[in-house]
Amino acid sequence: MNILVTGGAGFIGSHTCVALLEAGHTVIAVDNLSNSKAETIDRIKQITGHDVPFYQVDVTVATAVEQIMANHSIDGIIHFAGFKAVGESVAKPLVYYYNNLVSTMVLAMACQKYSVNRFVFSSSATVYGENEVPFIETMDLLPATNPYGATKAMSERILTDAAGANPKLSVALLRYFNPVGAHESGLIGEAPTGVPNNLMPYVTQVAKGKLEKLRVFGGDYPTVDGTGVRDYIHVMDLAEGHVAALNHLTAGVHIYNLGTGQGTSVLQLVKTFAEVNGIDVPYVIVDRRPGDIAECYADASKARRELNWAARRGLAEMCRDAWRFEKSMV
Ligand SMILES: NC(=O)c1ccc[n+]([C@@H]2O[C@H](COP(=O)([O-])OP(=O)(O)OC[C@H]3O[C@@H](n4cnc5c(N)ncnc54)[C@H](O)[C@@H]3O)[C@@H](O)[C@H]2O)c1
Repeated sequence: MNILVTGGAGFIGSHTCVALLEAGHTVIAVDNLSNSKAETIDRIKQITGHDVPFYQVDVTVATAVEQIMANHSIDGIIHFAGFKAVGESVAKPLVYYYNNLVSTMVLAMACQKYSVNRFVFSSSATVYGENEVPFIETMDLLPATNPYGATKAMSERILTDAAGANPKLSVALLRYFNPVGAHESGLIGEAPTGVPNNLMPYVTQVAKGKLEKLRVFGGDYPTVDGTGVRDYIHVMDLAEGHVAALNHLTAGVHIYNLGTGQGTSVLQLVKTFAEVNGIDVPYVIVDRRPGDIAECYADASKARRELNWAARRGLAEMCRDAWRFEKSMV
């Protein structure tokens, strides 16, 4: 299939481009490079040996998106492009609503105009809110506590309504848990600008000496060791989940958790990172961060059952690959 990947130069998008190319699909990548670099596209070509047409385009601009659709015979879209920092979304809600919602609407309308019937959307476990773990696809969603989460819930609704009105449209809403790690080549990975918001890049930067100490938010949660529990998933497993979803798409809306089903505490991750890589990660436990929940992990059985997909890589590989990529960055 010819797959248009929006946000293709980003963290998850770039790894998914690799997985798609390795599965025999053709990739057309689009990114406005607001949070990524064009050289990532070259790295994708280097890893796979395949050419990747790339458009530096903002997907909120309908005319630009339609031009790409007119140039290529697109069979499906995987829509990663968007802003993702929870804290920033509270400070700049309109920027987040505009970018994340208009992009989804522009792409969905272009699909209608160009008869593209497969749409895979990057959603997030954040839509579950403070439901009881493990999170399962049949749960009622709780109202989002921040604009970022609201954009994911609203995009899910927009695409669900679009599919309701178009019997030919197939939509997969993929709810990611906590993607970490990097491609094992060390050529692509997560390279946040500024101080990282997520745990793993923070850990790798402390290990490298770029940051002094890891601040662990909260040591008094009702969890195994008091620190927050998350479902970390290797980004290549997540990428392969997209290929599986695309291959199994049938008309209608299909929701899948992409996680491992396994909860890991902050301290368990730090300990594994230190053991696997033989490097110490100094940390200090500080107050809880407002808005954080104690535990978040998936019931991953639906994807296993229906997509024949399950995460294969363990925490040790996630730590090893994240560190290899960090070390490769100058
Ligand atoms: N990383 C996570 O922990 C996580 C978890 C759940 C969901 N998600 C979602 O997955 C998607 C990808 O996340 P990521 O971690 O790869 O983030 P990322 O920032 O690395 O990738 C997003 C890419 O989209 C591009 N982009 C943003 N707005 C654009 C626009 N209007 N037009 C064109 N390109 C645009 C950015 O330049 C970037 O390269 C996002 O939608 C994010 O909300 C991420």
